[in-house]
Amino acid sequence: MNIWQELPKPFLILAPMEGVTDLAFRQVIAKAGRPDLFYTEFTNVSSYTSEKGRHNALERLAISDSDKPIIAQIWGKNPDHFSEIARDLESLGFCGIDLNFGCPDKHVNKAGGGAAMIKTPELAVECYRQVCAATKLPVSIKTRLGFSFVDEYKTWLPILLAEHPAALTVHLRTRKEMSKVDAHYELIPEILKMRDEISPETKLIINGDIKDRAAVMELHAKYPEVDGFMIGRGVFANPYCFTDHVATREELMELLQLHLNLYEEQMNLHGLPYEPLKHYYKIYINNFPGASDVRAKLMETHSVIEAREVLAKLED
Ligand SMILES: Cc1cc2nc3c(=O)[nH]c(=O)nc-3n(C[C@H](O)[C@H](O)[C@H](O)COP(=O)(O)O)c2cc1C
Repeated sequence: MNIWQELPKPFLILAPMEGVTDLAFRQVIAKAGRPDLFYTEFTNVSSYTSEKGRHNALERLAISDSDKPIIAQIWGKNPDHFSEIARDLESLGFCGIDLNFGCPDKHVNKAGGGAAMIKTPELAVECYRQVCAATKLPVSIKTRLGFSFVDEYKTWLPILLAEHPAALTVHLRTRKEMSKVDAHYELIPEILKMRDEISPETKLIINGDIKDRAAVMELHAKYPEVDGFMIGRGVFANPYCFTDHVATREELMELLQLHLNLYEEQMNLHGLPYEPLKHYYKIYINNFPGASDVRAKLMETHSVIEAREVLAKLED
């Protein structure tokens, strides 16, 4: 039994999001209403080969009991580097390894990683095989339909399925489409057919524009054979998106206080800067009279202490 066989159907996953789904935020989402599975932000396999890079990678790969079960997501283009990091991930507490073959970021693609792997399928397969050979953990893949054209999925996905990954997440857009067009849900039946014919044991996960649990249930009713659904930006609009709960303003404020505490812990442990925390404030402070003024005040703060002072005045 591995984690993929233990999950309910359909299962829900918080999408990996660089600069968003760090340890503190995953713990916040676990508190609000946990998905069935978490992923880390992606970690570059080549960074892991130098002493300083390894130190940074290990900080990014820090996990806690509350965000387990969790999969480590990695990216790169050097098969040896993939296997070097893959060897260590089980002992760090991960229940699986996911290979990112879908990131559209220019720097990542220039380095040959993420969605650029769609253009070098032989290398992608070699990286996948190296990881499988280096670990007992189940190995999954997250990708897009194609690099430039939607139809690329007809050749690209069968190449991946032929490797029998434990799970395959398809973000239903091409790299070129970024997130600018609607996700191509109309292709789900065709992709399911491929999965059933080539690798029926691979769990198929659909991703793109799914905003909450209700949306998952609608898709599940339409496509019951899909095993899991992954929600990314939906958490920005509603951190309770993995539940049917409608959060009150007080609950969102409590969640923000929790986020401040958890992030502060990380600042103390790893010397993280305060500024990135500000990106999250809009998640908690919205939809009430005066919310934009509060956000503006929070954006002027320079520390967690100052942020707490702004919030304390709200309670007066
Ligand atoms: C800020 C941000 C960072 C992201 N970082 C990653 C990442 O590290 N790894 C990855 O596989 N996808 C990453 N993605 C893509 C998401 O996992 C997901 O595929 C995409 O947002 C589409 O899902 P959604 O429509 O539910 O947001 C990122 C997306 C965003 C918005």
